[in-house]
Amino acid sequence: MAQDSLSLRVQRITPEAEGILSYELVPAEGGSLPPFEAGSHLDVHVPGGFLRQYSLCNDSAETHRYLIAVQRDAKGRGGSRAMHERVRVGEVLTTSLPRCDFPLLYARSYVLVAGGIGITPMLSMAWQLERQGANWHLHYCTRSPERTAFRELLASPAFAAHVTFHHDGGDPSRGLDVRALLATRTGGTRLYCCGPAPLMRAVREASVHHQWPNEKVHFEAFTAEATGAISNRADTEFNVVIRSTGATYPVPPGQTVLNVLRKNGLRVQSDCEAGTCGTCLTRVLDGDPDHRDTFLAEPQRNTCRNMLVCVSRARSRKLVLDL
Ligand code: FES
Repeated sequence: MAQDSLSLRVQRITPEAEGILSYELVPAEGGSLPPFEAGSHLDVHVPGGFLRQYSLCNDSAETHRYLIAVQRDAKGRGGSRAMHERVRVGEVLTTSLPRCDFPLLYARSYVLVAGGIGITPMLSMAWQLERQGANWHLHYCTRSPERTAFRELLASPAFAAHVTFHHDGGDPSRGLDVRALLATRTGGTRLYCCGPAPLMRAVREASVHHQWPNEKVHFEAFTAEATGAISNRADTEFNVVIRSTGATYPVPPGQTVLNVLRKNGLRVQSDCEAGTCGTCLTRVLDGDPDHRDTFLAEPQRNTCRNMLVCVSRARSRKLVLDL
C-alpha cells in the first residue's frame, strides 16, 4: 500500500434511498485504517478513469471501515453511474488518504443544514457531536422520504431529537424556510451547510441578511456532478484577456480561470477554490460570466460585473478581466 494512497475492498453496498447507494470500504490487506475527522472526504479512483471526491459519513471513532454514499446522476459525467453500475462487493478501489476541507470547529452550539446527498459529511458530524454531548440540530432537506438517505438511522432514538426532516416535493417554496431558521442566533453558534447550489445560496443569503459572522458559517461545495445544479452547461474553451497587458490566454475545458492565470504568472488571491468563500472575486470588464459558485446571491449574479475565477467560466467567447 503506497503511503499516499489506500487499497480498499468494498465490503458491503447498501441502498440508502432512491438512487443512493452506500459503500462500506475496508482495508484490502486487513488491519486498521488511518484515522479521519468528521467532514473528511476520499478521492476515489472510479472504474472508467474517473476521480471523484466522496465524503466519509460514518463515525470518525471507527477505524475498521470507511463509509461513503453516492447518488446516481444520470446527467452527470459518468463517475456516479460507474460507481453504481460497475463497482461490486469484493472489488478493490484505490483512494487517497482521508482529507478534511470542512472541519468541525469548536462551538457552543451547531446548526447543520443538509440538502440531498449533502447529508454525507453532516452524518459524520452528527456522530461526533452526539458522542461529545454537544448542542446541535440538523435540518435535512430532501424531495421526499423515499429520497432521504439514512432516514431510519436519523429517525432512531440516537438522533431523532436532533433532526428535523424537510420534504418539499420538488418545490423549494414548500421546504425549509432558511431565512426564518437563521433569524435567531445565539453567540457561539456555528452553521454548517452542504447540499445543492440553490440551497447553499439561500443559506448564504440568509446568513448575510441576519448578520451571521462569516467565520461562523461553513460550506462544503460539491462538484457540479454531485449537486446537479451549479451549471447545466458543458465546459467549452474561451479566452481571458488581461486589461493591464492586453494578453490573451485560452481556458480549455477542465481548466479553471484561476489555474490559467497562475500558470501565466498572474496572482489572484484564493482560499477555498470551490466557489464558496468569495476570496477570488475578480471584476469583469467585458464578456458574459457563467457563474458556478455558491457565494454570489442571485441578484448579484444578474447585475454585478464580478466573478469567482476559481470555478466560474464564460458564456461568451471572451472575458476581459480587470487585472
Ligand atoms: S477561492 Fe474561494 S471562491 Fe474562489
